[in-house]
Amino acid sequence: MIVAVDGPAASGKGTLARAIARHYGVPHLDTGLLYRAVALCVARMELDPAVEADAVAACGFDEAVLADPALREDATGRTASIVSAHPLVRAALFQRQRRFAGQPGGAVLDGRDIGTVIAPEADAKLFVSATPRIRAQRRHAELKGRGGPTGPGPTGFDPNGFDPISFDRVLADIRARDQRDSARAAAPLAMAADAVLLDTSFLSIEAAVRKALDLVEARLSARR
Ligand code: DC
Repeated sequence: MIVAVDGPAASGKGTLARAIARHYGVPHLDTGLLYRAVALCVARMELDPAVEADAVAACGFDEAVLADPALREDATGRTASIVSAHPLVRAALFQRQRRFAGQPGGAVLDGRDIGTVIAPEADAKLFVSATPRIRAQRRHAELKGRGGPTGPGPTGFDPNGFDPISFDRVLADIRARDQRDSARAAAPLAMAADAVLLDTSFLSIEAAVRKALDLVEARLSARR
């Protein structure tokens, strides 16, 4: 059983994919982490994410990087969106994702191209979305809750209330990421023809999880 969960940044796809995996007792892969790992290595090697050969050089990242908290920073997500546009980077990460999807017992994967490229044969495909403004509100609240990407300081949040990363900047970032992820030639963010759309804009987390489980179960039982 393969479940593909795709969608734009901060749509809630990771939360839903984890809940689906837990419900069916199968492993889950957040494929965005792989692109984030490449991004982090590019930055640490002081290479240029826009240069394909530089990004490819970072694809052999050490597995330990996948547990690095810096992967979750917004700057890493931005760079991940840049490195992920290179076809050779996508090719370098392809087999790993295919192997994960094909493991006995099944798997849940979330990303941008799971239903279209990585596992077009998936038994159930969800495309999770929400308006850019609502996704930006979630991302902004999450960043504030976390105390900022690097803590108080020039790039972090000040616990005394000074917020150097404004909501407008987070919104602009979300829009830029949507545009880059959707407009690229290689495996762009797109809803598979046989995916079902789940708009989480006005749903609580609990309601979205319930709806996602219902949609997946309906697809799976139609195939049984
Ligand atoms: O889901 P995320 O925010 O962690 O993803 C970071 C970036 O990685 C995203 O902007 C585009 C890229 N990505 C991708 O191109 N394909 C995937 N399957 C997952 C992520």
